[in-house]
Amino acid sequence: MAILDKHKILEKNATLLLACSFAVVTIGGIVEIAPLFYLENTIEEVEGVRPYSPLELTGRDIYIREGCYVCHSQMIRPMRDEVERYGHYSLAAESMYDHPFQWGSKRTGPDLARVGGRYSDEWHVDHLTDPQSVVPESVMPKYGFLSHTLIEGEYVADLMSTHRIVGVPYTDEMIENASADFKVQTDPWGDFDGLMERYPGAQVRNFDGEPGITEMDALIAYLQMLGTLVDFSTFTPDASR
Ligand code: HEC
Repeated sequence: MAILDKHKILEKNATLLLACSFAVVTIGGIVEIAPLFYLENTIEEVEGVRPYSPLELTGRDIYIREGCYVCHSQMIRPMRDEVERYGHYSLAAESMYDHPFQWGSKRTGPDLARVGGRYSDEWHVDHLTDPQSVVPESVMPKYGFLSHTLIEGEYVADLMSTHRIVGVPYTDEMIENASADFKVQTDPWGDFDGLMERYPGAQVRNFDGEPGITEMDALIAYLQMLGTLVDFSTFTPDASR
């Protein structure tokens, strides 16, 4: 009972209670935060991870604009059922250039962190245009209008500069070539050597199969690269950190 009596002192004195609560929270906070200051880097660098190409970044913007994240997560958790269904669990580095990140918190539809390469471009066009035509029980809305919206990438350099402000390492060269890189990624007969050098592993083709660059092209370019940058046949987690 003695301990409860002592507690009474605290409970009857608001100022003392406040001061003690503050002390407890402060100590807890320091214990949580201090170790982070001694880590050189909280994100392990992983080979293959690079900033988005101008077309992919545009597609990502459309993904955010259309609210795809409301129904789709992009974060595979390291649990067996998820890894078997979706592939290797997501690495922190894989979303290090995502502003804002697209981890999401709701899975009305499947996780999309590794959807890249899982379906053909044609499948994506059919599915986005009319999801029920390929998955009859789907509750996903139709996005066919993306095929009718031509885009030219005139603002993509600005978008990249903005991303640079928040830490994405876009170089001056990348920003200067933004508009050209944007266009050439949909043109397999174009001169895309520069694009490939700046964005290794970028996929170059006419994504929606129609003439002209549309929002559909950009969105599919983005979907098809999701989760494909890291080669998991050679990746080994760095346990020393
Ligand atoms: C109302 C919720 C909802 C919204 C919003 C939504 N989806 Fe879906 N999505 C689903 C559901 C449910 C499925 C599973 C059935 C199907 O394949 O259509 C799905 C499936 C998918 C798949 C196939 C994934 C796989 O592994 O089979 C892709 C790709 C996809 N959605 C992309 C998108 C994109 C891109 C957007 C935004 C333009 C979007 N979705 C918006 C609900 C949604």
